[in-house]
Amino acid sequence: MAPRPARPVDGVAWVTGGSSGIGRFVVLELVRRGWTVAVSARRESELATLVAEAPSGRILSYVLDVTDRAATAAVISRIESEAGPIALAFLNVGTHVPGAKPLIGEEARMTLDVNLGGTINQLEPLLPILQHRGRGQVAVVASVAGYGGLPGAAAYCASKAALIALCTSLKFTLDGDGVLMQVVCPGFVRTPLTDKNDFPMPFLMEADEAARRICDGLETRRFEIAFPRRMVWLLKVLTKLPYSWYFWLVSRGTGGAR
Ligand SMILES: NC(=O)c1ccc[n+]([C@@H]2O[C@H](COP(=O)([O-])OP(=O)(O)OC[C@H]3O[C@@H](n4cnc5c(N)ncnc54)[C@H](OP(=O)(O)O)[C@@H]3O)[C@@H](O)[C@H]2O)c1
Repeated sequence: MAPRPARPVDGVAWVTGGSSGIGRFVVLELVRRGWTVAVSARRESELATLVAEAPSGRILSYVLDVTDRAATAAVISRIESEAGPIALAFLNVGTHVPGAKPLIGEEARMTLDVNLGGTINQLEPLLPILQHRGRGQVAVVASVAGYGGLPGAAAYCASKAALIALCTSLKFTLDGDGVLMQVVCPGFVRTPLTDKNDFPMPFLMEADEAARRICDGLETRRFEIAFPRRMVWLLKVLTKLPYSWYFWLVSRGTGGAR
């Protein structure tokens, strides 16, 4: 039978990168929908503020840098023993350095290390637990920026494209193991990450609305949770065109090189 979405009675939700932006709002929305949530990120003070926003015991915080492989495995063990079995994992950590100079250098390495390496560090200890249990749900946050290369975001687009391919590939195996695999591809959402952008962001969405759409998607078996629809389809169609059209249209639409 196809894996089903996890429910609060199955265990706890784990949200990574929950100290701000999309992750923070997803934590609060999951609590509203009946989940107990283990949340992790690096900034302890931001996590403490978030914990205080929910009734006692509904949000448990874990300080974690996901680029630390051993620490990530240790936090998963702690959540499982202190909070309960992880039924739903929302792997949301991500970073982007707009206008990075040089175009490809240390910042590109760091972006791939956090976005791709960090996700692997989370999946490596988590998946065997869920596979052994024969149930669970994992949603990895990629981006519509992973559909194709966009100007000024080479490492970010590469990391998100890799995450989409990673999740697509994993789904073939996890389907047979009872584990629901999903990928989340938001367009522009107003968060500290996009506050750094100095260009117009089409169809910009507020983070609480994004969190609601994500949580609606988490309650389905749909592989891809992507929004807003206009942005998603525009980019999906553009990436199916011959490259000469793609480069011309995207340059015109974005103003080209950044
Ligand atoms: N905003 C958008 O328009 C948009 C669109 C598509 C996809 N996304 C994706 O959505 C996700 C959330 O981004 P956001 O926009 O909400 O940005 P954000 O507010 O900057 O959130 C990023 C989160 O990741 C955490 N984080 C960063 N590096 C980390 C590390 N090494 N270890 C552990 N936690 C780390 C941050 O917390 P600490 O600093 O406390 O560690 C923070 O909680 C990212 O994957 C992003 O790529 C965003």
